[in-house]
Order: sequence, then C-alpha cells, then structure tokens
Amino acid sequence: MEKNITKNYNGLKKVRTSQTNILSFFGIKKREEIWDNEKYPRYIKIWQNLYSNNLTKNFKIEFQKKFSLKKFKEFFPSRESFDIKKAISITKELRWRKEPYDKQHWGHWLHSLSPYQGRLTPSFVHWLIRAFSSPDMTILDPFCGSGTVPLEADLLNRKGIGSDLNPYAYLISMGKFDRRPLNDHLDYLKNISDDVVSNNKSIDNIPDWIKAYFHEKTLKEILYLNEKLNDEKQYFLHACLMGILHGNRPGYLSVYTGCIIPMKPRPKTHPKFRPDKDIPEYRATIPRMAAKVMRMFSNKIPLKTKGIILNEDARELKSLKKDSIDVIISSPPYYNTLDYTSQNRVRLFFLGLNRENQDLLKEKLIQNSQTYLDEMKKVGIQLKRVLIPEGYIIFILGDVIRTKSFINTAERVGEIYKDIGFETLDIIKDEIPLNKVASRSKKKKFDRIIIMKND
Ligand SMILES: C[S@@+](CC[C@H](N)C(=O)[O-])C[C@H]1O[C@@H](n2cnc3c(N)ncnc32)[C@H](O)[C@@H]1O
Repeated sequence: MEKNITKNYNGLKKVRTSQTNILSFFGIKKREEIWDNEKYPRYIKIWQNLYSNNLTKNFKIEFQKKFSLKKFKEFFPSRESFDIKKAISITKELRWRKEPYDKQHWGHWLHSLSPYQGRLTPSFVHWLIRAFSSPDMTILDPFCGSGTVPLEADLLNRKGIGSDLNPYAYLISMGKFDRRPLNDHLDYLKNISDDVVSNNKSIDNIPDWIKAYFHEKTLKEILYLNEKLNDEKQYFLHACLMGILHGNRPGYLSVYTGCIIPMKPRPKTHPKFRPDKDIPEYRATIPRMAAKVMRMFSNKIPLKTKGIILNEDARELKSLKKDSIDVIISSPPYYNTLDYTSQNRVRLFFLGLNRENQDLLKEKLIQNSQTYLDEMKKVGIQLKRVLIPEGYIIFILGDVIRTKSFINTAERVGEIYKDIGFETLDIIKDEIPLNKVASRSKKKKFDRIIIMKND
C-alpha cells in the first residue's frame, strides 16, 4: 500500500497510510459515488477541482472585498513624530463612517474567518490604529475576541498582541496568525479528504441538542476533522471549520440557523416547521472547507507576522512584561450586554466545553453587572503595569440603556481608572447608524471612544 506523507504543525514529516488506498484496495465506494451524496453541484465541482489541483484556477468567489496591502499614508511614521492632539482630532473625524470605509465588506477577508458577536468593524479599528500608533509600535488588545485589533495592527505593520479567555475567541485569533501558504492548506484538505468521508466516529455520546443541527454523516465528518485539526494544531483550518459550522446558507454545515447565534432548530412538531430548511441534509465538509480557505486567500495574506495571541485573563496578563506595550486598543465587555458563552454554545461544544464547562467559563468572564467595575479595576492595574509611561489606552465602550436606567460606561471606567493613574483626555461619541443597531429600539445609540493617558 502506498504511503502518504503529510506535515504536522511543527513541520515534521509524518507517514500515514492513505485511506484512499484502503478504499480502492477493498473496492469500497469510488470517490464519484461519495461525491454523489452531496446535493449542491457547486461543492461537487470544488471537490473535483481540489483533487485535480485546479481549485486555484477555477474557484469563483461570490463577491470581492476591495482591499490591498498598499502602504497607507502614516500620520506618525515614527514614535518621535506622535502627537496626541493630532491623533484625537483625526479620530473626531469618524472616518470609518465615510466612504469607502463605511461599506459593510471593507477590510481583509481574514477578518471574516469566523463570526463573533460584538466584533468591531475592521475599518473602525484601522483608523484607531493609524491615529494612535506608528509602525514601530506594539499594540495590545486584552479582550481581543475574534482578533480584529491584532490582525489589523499586523496588516498595518505594527506588532499586534491579543488575548482572550474564551477558547472560541482564542481559536479564531490564533487562526488569523497561523500563516502558511494557500497550497499547504489545500494539500492538507486533499490528503485527509478520504479519511474524513469514510470515518466512522461514534456519535452515541453527542448530546441531542447538538445532533439536532447536523445530518448524521456531516456530524461524523465534523467530529473527525475537529479532533484532527485540534491535535495537529492547524489553527487556521480549525477556525475555518468553526466559521462554516452553522448558518443559513448551503456553504454552512448545519440545518438552517444563524451563523453568529445558533438558534435552536425547529423540531417536526413546531407549528412553523419547514421541511426544506429544518431537516438536516448531508453537507460535505471538505469542499466547504476548501471554499472557505479560498475566500480567505482572495486577499493576499502575509506569511510573516510579529503578532502574538494569548489565552489569558485580562486581570492577570501573566505573559506580558512591565512596560512592554505602547498602546492599548480594546472593546472590553460592558456590563452584561452580551453573553459570550451561550451565543457561542455550539462552537464551544466542539472546542471541548460541555454545558457545565460553558457555565464555568461564563463565571470567569467579565459579564456580571454587579461586579463589573471592580473587575475592570483589576484589569486596569495590569494595564498600568504593561503599558509604557505616557502610553495611551483607547477603549470603545457602549452605553447601557435599560427601561429605567442609563449608564455611560466610558465615564464610569474613566473615573475608576483615574485612581489607578490614568488621566482621561477625551471621550468621543460615535453614533451607531440605526441599521446597525441590533435592537428594534429607534433611540440613538452611541459607542464612546475613551482616550486615557498613563500618567
Ligand atoms: C466586546 S468583545 C471583544 C470583541 C473584539 N474587539 C472583536 O473585534 O472581536 C469582549 C471580549 O472580552 C472577553 N473577555 C471577557 N472577560 C475576559 C477576561 N477576564 N479576560 C480576557 N477576556 C475576557 C470575551 O470573551 C469577549 O471576547
């Protein structure tokens, strides 16, 4: 039997017996027959092209994101030229609300590696980084979520460091910094494809609430792929798998549901049950993964990066040294407006957190309104330690609007940070356009950009 050589994460060569050969050796189903199980011709074509090494020639992307790595005009080419007054005045122009930066799809495709609730828009982050740093600086986001700040910093030739306690956020961010050439990813997928489709993973121990989202065969493929990508530290491909895990189009692996929040699939007994949408159909994982990879690479991805991603508590930041950070740009959680565990429950399950462990994670995250300011104070003490003297913190914080109360989070955080040794220089209001507000309320909503200086 012929042997295939694949590379594991460390670049070490690993010899493995190919399942392809096992398939043909025992005369089990031919590849074409396996492809027949896939309902959507687009994905059969992608699969065929992957096998014949023609995918890079024949792949058609649904829409282009206009983005290039061209050099943007630097306001501050070196740290010596930095001027905080100018940085604040650039920010006040709110350029991310203007053409072409206000377009929904502005930015590098890699920003869309996997959905994340509460993600900042890349253009917003882009302008904050350009206004508050120069290319030789190190930028930290201690609540990096899907890694928007470190990635945009990286694309702008800064050193981006991100950290998040949530394993799903950590995986997406790691995926954005797992830089390998396109063909490495496509070859990897091609080499494991037969093993993925022919695997017979048991789903006996998978809870029913997870089974409800997937066709049994798709679920087996996901379980196999998930374990393999995790074991082999294929962060980019693993994040791609999380990215297509659930959603409402044929490119996703699940029954019809949200791609950010996995609304519960409707059971047959539901009065509005829709057979065409609510019965899981077989969705082949490999061609969908290949399509996802191709989309990400439709903008050039730099292979070199100085970026670092950590899975640490913002109240500890153990890996970061004193005075090692020039600027902090972050959108911390504010009060308990978003729930980063239950919104990500399906993805977290595949990352090894059952419901009980998800509850434990929820307790660790800063999510509780009662303790919010105390916890943010602990974060502030660490930020004081890692930030250089006279360095800046830029936090994006939303107001909390309840029926009977209103909290200006930015002002509150500014007050407690004063005690730690940060001076608030300005709070800039950024009105969120009504079509981007999640709630149905027609009241004006603001993000507030608070700029603080390490005194
Ligand atoms: C508003 S989101 C950040 C979104 C991010 N800016 C992006 O573009 O994706 C806040 C993040 O804080 C994280 N978080 C909450 N408590 C944390 C803690 N104690 N340490 C580190 N991260 C925490 C959550 O997991 C969540 O990802």
